[in-house]
This record gives sequence, structure tokens and C-alpha cells, in this order.
Amino acid sequence: MVPADEDGPVEVPYPQYRCALCGEDLPLGDAHMSVTCAEHRVGSTEVRFEIRPAVASDRHEIEAICDQAWGETEIDVFGRTFDVLACDNLVAIAEDGFAGLISLAIDRGELAVVLLTVYPRYQGSGVGAALVEAAVGIARERRLPFIKVATTNDDIPALYFYQRRGFVLYELVAGEMVDHHGEVVPGFAGIAVRDELHLRRPVC
Ligand SMILES: CC(C)(COP(=O)(O)OP(=O)(O)OC[C@H]1O[C@@H](n2cnc3c(N)ncnc32)[C@H](O)[C@@H]1OP(=O)(O)O)[C@@H](O)C(=O)NCCC(=O)NCCS
Repeated sequence: MVPADEDGPVEVPYPQYRCALCGEDLPLGDAHMSVTCAEHRVGSTEVRFEIRPAVASDRHEIEAICDQAWGETEIDVFGRTFDVLACDNLVAIAEDGFAGLISLAIDRGELAVVLLTVYPRYQGSGVGAALVEAAVGIARERRLPFIKVATTNDDIPALYFYQRRGFVLYELVAGEMVDHHGEVVPGFAGIAVRDELHLRRPVC
């Protein structure tokens, strides 16, 4: 998953974020956080989009967004390897193209988010939140008690995003990412990627 670099330390190139001020796509290590009051929150751009189940013809776009977010379609999470192409996928389609993906699978009686990713240019526009709410709807239809997600200790925007949407931390797999990468690699804002964090939200 991590490209070899003979000239220096290995860096994780995924996922990517977007500068909320200038709109530039940011490699993970170049992204930073800032805190504002609600009034001065950097405005999100208005994007019209629809969420729908993926169909066979979405395969190429799903492979492309997985490549951007993770580098491949196989995702190691919750102690298992999931193939996104074999999961239940919901896609977000904006007026001008494919915007995001949430990939779902049942794991130990709960609905697991295998991957959630929104292309940088659409981030901050409500696409991620809409994908999560659509996934909660699927969990409810299937009478599953929880929807759960894994992220890593460095991914502060994702931790913010999920907790803002009712997810609660319930487990930390210490050192899982060091084992996975074979070394400590820099993640969001250069924070060392060490642990896999599990959050879940009850489905009422
Ligand atoms: C995390 C992610 C899925 C959120 O999706 P999104 O479409 O940007 O989120 P939304 O627009 O629905 O929600 C924005 C909210 O999340 C916060 N947020 C999290 N990541 C953000 C981002 N990259 N850009 C803007 N806002 C972001 C906002 O502050 C906003 O908070 P609010 O609840 O106070 O309004 C998306 O930023 C992304 O794909 N990031 C890179 C991949 C990643 O980290 N995936 C999660 C791995 S578990």
C-alpha cells in the first residue's frame, strides 16, 4: 500500500484533503487544522448531488476514487481485508461528476464502513454527511444495531467528522498501523500514524 522510496522515509500519500481557503488539493502531510468561531467558519461551497446505490457501470469510477483515497480497492480494517468491489457501495454524484463513495459490509453483526471518501474538490459540501446518513438508513433497513467505522489516530478531520455525527469511540487497536506499514509513517499534518481507532453509532 505504501510506495517504496529509496531516497528517504516512506510517506503515506493517501487520503487527500483540500485547502478550505485556496481550494488546492493537499497531500496528507501538507494539511493543517485551524479553529474558528461558527460565524467565521470557512464557507462550504454549494454542491448539488444525489446519493444512490452503485451500479455495474460505476466500477471504473469506484476504482479511481479508491486509487485516490487508498491506492487500491482492498482495505484492511477491523482485522480483515475487504474488497471494495465486493461491498455494498453507495455513490455521490454531483452535477459535474463523481463526488464520493461509502463502501459497506456486515462485520460481526454490525454495518462496517469499509471506506468513506470524498474527492477533495467536493469536501466540506455535505457529501460525506449525506453518504453516512444513507448508510445509517441501510443499517436500519437490515435491523443492524450499530454502524461502525475505523480511522487512524492522525486523521483529526475524520475524528471530528464522525463524532459530530453521533459516532462514539469504543476501541483503539494500539500500534496496528505500525504493524501494517512495517514502520511509523507520517500522516495528517505529519502526525505519526500508529493506531486504528474504532467508532460506532447506534442505529435506532
Ligand atoms: C472526512 C470526509 C469523508 C468528510 O466528508 P466531507 O464531504 O468533506 O464532509 P461534510 O461536508 O459532509 O461535513 C463537513 C463537516 O466535517 C468537517 N470536515 C471533515 N473533513 C473535512 C474536509 N476535508 N473539508 C471540509 N470539512 C471537513 C467540517 O468541518 C464539517 O463540520 P461541521 O459538522 O462542523 O459542519 C472527507 O473530508 C474525506 O474524504 N477526507 C479524506 C478521506 C478520509 O479521511 N476519509 C475518512 C477515513 S475514515
